[in-house]
Amino acid sequence: MRQCPMRQQNGPHGSDAFTYSTEDADAYGSLEIAGTSYEIGFDALAEKLGDLTGTRWLDFGAGAGRSSLFLRNLGAAFVVGVDHNFTMVKHANKQHVSRVAYALIGRTLPVANEAMDGAISCNVYTEIPSKRDMVVASAEIYRVLKPSSQFFIMTANPESIGHVYKSFPRTGSIEHLSSGSRVRCVITTPEGVVEVEDHYWTLDDYQDVLQAVGFEVRATDTPTSLKDSFVGTDESIIGPFLILTCFKE
Ligand SMILES: C[S@@+](CC[C@H](N)C(=O)[O-])C[C@H]1O[C@@H](n2cnc3c(N)ncnc32)[C@H](O)[C@@H]1O
Repeated sequence: MRQCPMRQQNGPHGSDAFTYSTEDADAYGSLEIAGTSYEIGFDALAEKLGDLTGTRWLDFGAGAGRSSLFLRNLGAAFVVGVDHNFTMVKHANKQHVSRVAYALIGRTLPVANEAMDGAISCNVYTEIPSKRDMVVASAEIYRVLKPSSQFFIMTANPESIGHVYKSFPRTGSIEHLSSGSRVRCVITTPEGVVEVEDHYWTLDDYQDVLQAVGFEVRATDTPTSLKDSFVGTDESIIGPFLILTCFKE
């Protein structure tokens, strides 16, 4: 399997933000939802989202497009998938599917105020290197959402550190981590390994940031799975993902 060296960029979100190479984007793009550890998070999210027919959704940190297609498959009338990484947006744009558009972004979103019925951000917030940058991103998401709409974050469960999952081990030991600590995440994909430098954030960190920009955090979930496909790894013991359900009044 190919192993990618870790890289960082001086992008719109600071010198600590991770960047994906073309090879990374191709490998990440080969990663399905079904049969991977991600299935647990996306299944729980699908249950919360229900039927999205006729609605417009923002996918913040769309990557290679997997999470935007997830929204489309739930019936969304239109999905805007945004990402600050050029190679990821380029990969996502190869899909040419209807009802989904991808955009490369800086610190602001190319979306009008209160234009979206809802937003998701999956596997993104651990890549944001500071709480200040999380506030900037979350405030923009808040701005583009209609009143009485929801924003769902799927992120690493802070309690999952030290556990081994089918698609990635969460290496490290919680005693040695504090908010913002770097955490290496090695993701196994059908096209090789993608090595990402994530950051450790606690539930309190997420809540501070979301409340600071006006969201009400209505639920936090860490779903587990007893499926046979996860026998031998830790998905049945500690959920790999934390899902935050946020509400804009
Ligand atoms: C691990 S990928 C997840 C992609 C997709 N959401 C999924 O679950 O398949 C994380 C993506 O978030 C993007 N990202 C991280 N921080 C971001 C930020 N502050 N603004 C926009 N995109 C960001 C990265 O470039 C990367 O493409």
